[in-house]
Amino acid sequence: MKLLDLNAQYQSIKNEIDWAIQDVIKRSAFIMGDDIKKLESAIAQYCQSKYAVGLNSGSDALLLALRALDIKQGDEVIVPTFTFISTAEVVVLEQAKPIFVDIDPKTFNIDPSKIEEKITSKTKAIIPVHLYGQPADMDPIMDIAARHNLYVIEDAAQAIGAEYKGKKVCSIGHIGCLSFFPAKNLGAFGDAGMIVTEDEKIAEKIAMLRNHGSRKKYYHEFIGDSSRLDNLQAAILRVKLKHLDKWNDLRIQKAEKYNELFKQTEVVTPSTLPDTKTVYQQYTIRVKKRDELQKNLKEKGIPTAIHYPLPLHLQPAFKYLKYKEGDLIESERASREVLSLPMYPELSADDQNIITKSISSFY
Ligand SMILES: Cc1ncc(COP(=O)(O)O)c(C=O)c1O
Repeated sequence: MKLLDLNAQYQSIKNEIDWAIQDVIKRSAFIMGDDIKKLESAIAQYCQSKYAVGLNSGSDALLLALRALDIKQGDEVIVPTFTFISTAEVVVLEQAKPIFVDIDPKTFNIDPSKIEEKITSKTKAIIPVHLYGQPADMDPIMDIAARHNLYVIEDAAQAIGAEYKGKKVCSIGHIGCLSFFPAKNLGAFGDAGMIVTEDEKIAEKIAMLRNHGSRKKYYHEFIGDSSRLDNLQAAILRVKLKHLDKWNDLRIQKAEKYNELFKQTEVVTPSTLPDTKTVYQQYTIRVKKRDELQKNLKEKGIPTAIHYPLPLHLQPAFKYLKYKEGDLIESERASREVLSLPMYPELSADDQNIITKSISSFY
C-alpha cells in the first residue's frame, strides 16, 4: 500500500504527458518557453483571477510575494504555527518577524479570532494557510486585514481547486501562492510553483523578480533572482490541469468514504466549514495514542504521515523568537494527535476498507 501513488496517475495520462515532454525537447523550449505563458493564463483563469506568474517552487512564490509587497526588516507578518515551515521561513528570509497564531482545532487552520490581539504597528501582512486542502476562514481574515490596512497572502500550496463561499482560493487575498511539488493535487515532475493576483503591478514585479530584475534581456532594473518556472514542468502541468477537477472530485469521494467508514468509531474525522469545498491534499484524522497507532499500522504495511509533528513556534529554527510550550496549545495538541492516511485519486475501496478496519481493531 502507498501513501500516494504518483505512478498510477502517470499511467492514466501517459500518452499525453510523454507527447508534451517530447514536444518541449524537440523545440528545445527549456527556459521561458511558451508553455509557461499558456499555463499562467490557464491557472489565472482556473483560480478566477487576472494574473499568474510561474515560479520554481511554492516557497519562492511566498518569498517573492513578500518581496513584491516590500516586506522588510522591522516588519511583522502573522502566520499560523501549524503549517509547513515555508510559510514562516520566507518571512525570516526577508528579515521580517513571523508572529505565530494558534489554529481552530476543528479545521486546523489559523483561528481568525486570535489574529487581532497579535497586530501591532509593525504588522504588514497575514498569511493564512489552506491546510490539507481546506480553505481558511477568509471572510473574517479579509475583514481584519481591511481594518488594519494589511496585505493578505494566501498560502494555497495544498489547496488548488478549493473554494470558499463560491470563490476559488488564491482569488480572495492580495496574492495567492501555489506549489506544484509532485505530491500536491496538481503536481509537477519536480519543483514548481506560481503566484496568482488581481494586481497587475504585483504580477509584473514578481515576473521581474523571478528573472534577475529584468524586463528586457541583459537590462536589470533591480536585483532579482533566478526563480523561473521550468518550461518542461509547465508543459507537464498544462496536461495535468485538464484532469485536476476530476482528480479533486475523486479525492472528495475517497474522503467521504473514509468519513462513512469511521462513523461509530472514536476517530475524529476532518470537519469542514460550511459553504466551502475542501480538496483533501491530505485526509488527516485526530486520534488518541497516535504514535502507537502509526507504529501498529506500519507493521501491517499501511503507510501514514504526520503533518506536522512539531508546530513552528517550538522548532529549533525559531528558538530565537522565545516561544515556549503551552503558548499555542491547540497547535501543540494537534501535532500530537494528527495522522494523515493514504489519499490520492486512484486509492482503492479495498485499501480504504483495510485501513479503516485496521484502525478500528487497534482501538
Ligand atoms: C503549506 C505549504 N506552504 C508552502 C509549501 C512550499 O512549497 P514548495 O515545496 O513547492 O516550495 C508547501 C509545500 O510543501 C506547503 O505545504
